[in-house]
Amino acid sequence: MRWAALLLLLGCSARRTEPIAGPLVLDDEAARGERVFMQNCHSCHPFGEGGLGFSLNDKPLPGFMIRAQVRTGFGVMPGFDEQQIPREDLDALVVYLRRLRKHG
Ligand code: HEC
Repeated sequence: MRWAALLLLLGCSARRTEPIAGPLVLDDEAARGERVFMQNCHSCHPFGEGGLGFSLNDKPLPGFMIRAQVRTGFGVMPGFDEQQIPREDLDALVVYLRRLRKHG
């Protein structure tokens, strides 16, 4: 019995770490985030890949770091204030970037 429970546990944790492949599915919020991204970020981070800016889809950047980077900017990257990207849009943007990451 104990072995069965252990195997079950191992099975579950192994499955959870497998990368999720397949087409990128976007719910409403992620789709909104995608629009925000295309308008403000795409020119330098094409499809989340590196361009003028770093690639965003290959590292587990925590949400607060993405927010901080967007609000303050850094180096060549401009900061975006509440006028340019309202808070709800920024939330959606973070959701979209997470989705992009799982996908890649
Ligand atoms: C004018 C070009 C430009 C635009 C527009 C731009 N970025 Fe950037 N971004 C950069 C550059 C250049 C860097 C690297 C700057 C640095 O940290 O020295 C960067 C870095 C970042 C980083 C940090 C990546 C890391 O690996 O640390 C994040 C997150 C980011 N950008 C997100 C965004 C988001 C989200 C938007 C849209 C709201 C955006 N950027 C718009 C140029 C841009």
